[in-house]
Amino acid sequence: MSEPFTVAIDGPAASGKGTISRAVAARFGLAHLDTGLLYRAVGVRMLDGIDPVEAAQALTRADLADEGRLRGAEAAQAASKVAVIPEVRAALVDFQRAFARRAGGAVLDGRDIGTVICPEAEVKLFVTASAEVRAHRRYLELRAKGDETAEEAVLADVIARDARDSERAAAPLRAAGDAIRIDTSHLSIDEAVETATRVVGERLKQR
Ligand code: DC
Repeated sequence: MSEPFTVAIDGPAASGKGTISRAVAARFGLAHLDTGLLYRAVGVRMLDGIDPVEAAQALTRADLADEGRLRGAEAAQAASKVAVIPEVRAALVDFQRAFARRAGGAVLDGRDIGTVICPEAEVKLFVTASAEVRAHRRYLELRAKGDETAEEAVLADVIARDARDSERAAAPLRAAGDAIRIDTSHLSIDEAVETATRVVGERLKQR
């Protein structure tokens, strides 16, 4: 495929959008960008005392390499704080749009891909699940890594981050009008991936 083909996948934390995005990209040979990593990288630089707007303007691919630290809970909270700053968001737009329109096609997952970054995306998915289900998934993930955080604390964290992401003025988390919703609350990983793969496969066939 030489024409650009963009799959925009949005949704809240631990909705399953990351797993779905990686699977869809692998299935159709598309490049994948987890845009949360950009905000996490800026968040981590803010924790290191660097101005977040300057950090966003200077961000390069090399800043996304330290996935260990970027995936942690501290980076997640810092990411959702810098993500409310319009100048931070603006500084990250060009990188994401260039990635989205690269030859060969791309999957981008985040909060505002279908609404702000790629309103022209060929496929838009909005992946959701209840806060309780998402907190339980995150709790199991943390426990598997040896982190003993109580489930209630994980739920409080999910709710706080949802509120910050949905209520901010700049590019809040919401589904695009033409996005297809996938609620994964009662779906297995395989079922959720299959649903998304079917939608993307049908759209590709129409080209
Ligand atoms: O998807 P994630 O948990 O890695 O995202 C971390 C934070 O970054 C999230 O709380 C909100 C912000 N974010 C955003 O505002 N816009 C995006 N496209 C992706 C993430």
